[in-house]
Amino acid sequence: MSPDGHTSIASTSVLVALGERSYEILIGRGLLAHAGHFILPVLSQKRAFIVTDANVAATYLSPLATTLSQSGIKTDHVIVPAGEASKDINHLAQVLDAMLAAKCERKTMIVALGGGVVGDLAGLASSILLRGVDFIQIPTTLLSQVDSSVGGKTGINTSAGKNLVGSFHQPRLVLADTETLSTLPRRELLAGYAEVAKYGLLGDAALFAWLEANAQTALALGTNDQTALIHAIATSCRAKAKIVAEDEKESGARALLNLGHTFGHALEAEMGYGGQLLHGEAVAIGMVLAFELSARMGLCSKDDAVRAKRHLASIGLPVSPPKTGPRGKITPEALMAHMAQDKKVADGKMTFVLARGIGQAFLSREVSEPALRATLAQALAS
Ligand code: NAD
Ligand code: GLY
Repeated sequence: MSPDGHTSIASTSVLVALGERSYEILIGRGLLAHAGHFILPVLSQKRAFIVTDANVAATYLSPLATTLSQSGIKTDHVIVPAGEASKDINHLAQVLDAMLAAKCERKTMIVALGGGVVGDLAGLASSILLRGVDFIQIPTTLLSQVDSSVGGKTGINTSAGKNLVGSFHQPRLVLADTETLSTLPRRELLAGYAEVAKYGLLGDAALFAWLEANAQTALALGTNDQTALIHAIATSCRAKAKIVAEDEKESGARALLNLGHTFGHALEAEMGYGGQLLHGEAVAIGMVLAFELSARMGLCSKDDAVRAKRHLASIGLPVSPPKTGPRGKITPEALMAHMAQDKKVADGKMTFVLARGIGQAFLSREVSEPALRATLAQALAS
């Protein structure tokens, strides 16, 4: 796909190959200001309904509405509060009500403009509005550009836990404008980077080695040259697209994308989702713990576990679990209790993503409790 003859925007394209539900991820600098050109070909009707959050709306809603209007696309929108708390049943109802009040029809395109919170919420709303309408992702955080906007998982949280209500609903197009990352708080950028490193650690040793050498350059957003950043995002999206194409509904290989997440979700639950520990930060710590557990079980070398930890720390990510949370001292038992409630528990057994080395993750249901407890105890004591 390319913009019209008047505009030339360099973008990298990644295909998510899912038969008739295939779609492109376009990654490039300045895509948002020309979104109308890219979106027009996938519309069945010249109407779009934008879902965004208050932070993102302040900077990006007007440029998006302008480019869509220049392409003759009529827009309506709803703005939810920024933050994880918007991923709940009340905000889902608010978004659906706004779509119906705007008289969205089956052919109206829903556009998710924002991070993973907006993408998950708008994606779920579009999968149930009028029994399902199309949607487009315009991710504006690094995490959403490399992970949540790709693959069609949508969801909200309930009092029982994160992402427990949702659907698989693939977008029609993903537009990842790297320029939008320049307004992202540095801490959010680094949290998103954890998911980039994840693709190297789970299945691509060459990517991990490239990141060791180039991640600082990729994350230096002040420069004009975004080649390294775009390469990192495109390589991440390619890795995710390949896994999603093989296993869209997570009956096997897709679970590898959860490297670090069983530990990470337990830490997030223990810390209380109040922003003290961002999702990507929890994943960074979780990936270190997954490698340390793998080394303790004799599956991978201690050197690989040290290498994973050293790289994440060098980027500025936390690599050891917090010692205390809102409920006081964090213990291995408390974390193990959260893990036992994980979505991936089957027949009472937890599934872990372990590694035989950098880039060699695999699924295991054979983790001994003493090894897990010892890994957690050592990390919490360090
Ligand atoms: P987020 O959407 O909350 O965004 C983080 C913060 O950055 C918010 O305050 C937001 O308003 C702000 N923001 C977004 N873009 C900005 C920009 N360009 N400039 C300035 N501020 C900006 O969080 P996230 O990290 O993008 O996503 C986390 C969510 O994604 C979680 O709910 C997680 O469960 C979900 N997730 C989903 C999947 C999936 O496959 N569906 C995968 C991973 C994570
Ligand atoms: N973030 C994990 C997945 O999309 O499967």
